Formats: sequence, C-alpha cells, structure tokens
Amino acid sequence: MAAERHDGRSGPEPGHDRAPGGVLIRRAVPDDWKVSRDIRLAALADAPHAFASTLDREIGLAEADWRSRLDSAVTYLAWHEGEPAGTATGLDHSGGAYPIPDAWHLVGMWVRPASRGTGIAGDLVEAVAADARAAGAVAIGLWVTEVNGRAQAFYRRLGFRPTGARQIVRPEEPDHWEIQLVRDLTR
Ligand SMILES: CC(C)(COP(=O)(O)OP(=O)(O)OC[C@H]1O[C@@H](n2cnc3c(N)ncnc32)[C@H](O)[C@@H]1OP(=O)(O)O)[C@@H](O)C(=O)NCCC(=O)NCCS
Repeated sequence: MAAERHDGRSGPEPGHDRAPGGVLIRRAVPDDWKVSRDIRLAALADAPHAFASTLDREIGLAEADWRSRLDSAVTYLAWHEGEPAGTATGLDHSGGAYPIPDAWHLVGMWVRPASRGTGIAGDLVEAVAADARAAGAVAIGLWVTEVNGRAQAFYRRLGFRPTGARQIVRPEEPDHWEIQLVRDLTR
C-alpha cells in the first residue's frame, strides 16, 4: 500500500489526507501528543489482551508524560481517510530480561479495527524498521502475547520469528504469557 511520510511535520487535519489509498503515515513529534494519546488509549481499551500496560495505568498520564514519550522514542502515526488509525513505536533499547544485541524494539503496535487488513500495519512496521536500519540496528525485536493469534500471524508474514524467550505479561496474571519475536534487518 502506498503511504506518504512527512517526518517532523505537524499532524494532518481531517480532509488533508491526499495520499493514495487515503492513508498517511508520518513520524510523530511532541506537539502530536494529543492524537498520540488518543490512539494509545483507544488501543488499550480495544485490545487489553495485547499489551503489558493497561488503560487504568495510562489514562491519568499528564501532557508532559505523553510529550516525553514522543521525545524519547520513534513513534509513527497513521491516518486513514482523515481519521487517526494506528501507531507503532520503536525503542533503541529493550530494558528487559532477554536483550537482543544491536536490536531496536517494536512496541505499542495497534491499528483500529476498521483499518485492519488494509496494509497500514505493515507500513507502520516498515517505517520503524527503516529508522532502525538507518540507526545501525541489525534486528528488530518485540513481545507478543500467546493469545494474540492475529498479531502473531501478521508478524510472521513480515519475517519475524520466535527467539524462544517467553515471559509472564503481568505478575498478577500468572497464566498470561508473551513470546519474543525477532526479525533480521540485515537481509
Ligand atoms: C496486530 C495488528 C496491528 C495487525 O494489523 P492487521 O491489519 O490486523 O494485520 P493483517 O490483516 O495485515 O494481518 C493479520 C493476519 O492475521 C490473520 N488472522 C486474522 N484473524 C486471525 C486470528 N483470529 N487468528 C490467527 N490469525 C488471524 C490474517 O489472515 C492475516 O494473516 P495473513 O496475511 O497471513 O492472511 C492489528 O490486528 C491490531 O492492532 N491488533 C490489536 C492490537 C495488537 O494486537 N497489537 C500487537 C501487540 S504485540
């Protein structure tokens, strides 16, 4: 799917989306904090099984927290037919128990239900992967919950494979596990 990128520019207003297919994907800047917050809270409400964080934990975050997130990571936002439609974030570190050498980490991946199956999710991943490659990363890793069959099928199609690492998503839910996937960026 064709997607237009305008790194570092402010967000489109509804009706300003002129990209082929009605899709626009671009990197978020801190001034995009409101739309980024709205998409993130929609994601946590829509797919609580998919994320380690929760709506309860994030709904009270302040403007400074949302701005800081956009400042310290690479977040892409997608608009589809003028509406905010999805997001993906790349981190240059994992901070977790199963580090992957020289890898970036994909987090916060979400596309609204009405825009799934359109290719937007793949475009978001490729945007993050391109930045990871440009920064010298040789791989991109992520965690996906074991119950999330759709996301696992999606990542497999994009070349992600299990590393064998597995962990509990939240300490208070000992039956809810996630697995680590990795994609080689050197090929
Ligand atoms: C994960 C997500 C971003 C993928 O985007 P998408 O537009 O749905 O992805 P696609 O439609 O391109 O691909 C989904 C794949 O899952 C398959 N699929 C659909 N429903 C499925 C199910 N219930 N179980 C297994 N596979 C399923 C589709 O056939 C497709 O595979 P294929 O291309 O090999 O046929 C999106 O579904 C989403 O936002 N989900 C909720 C949040 C989430 O899970 N985020 C990931 C956190 S790690």
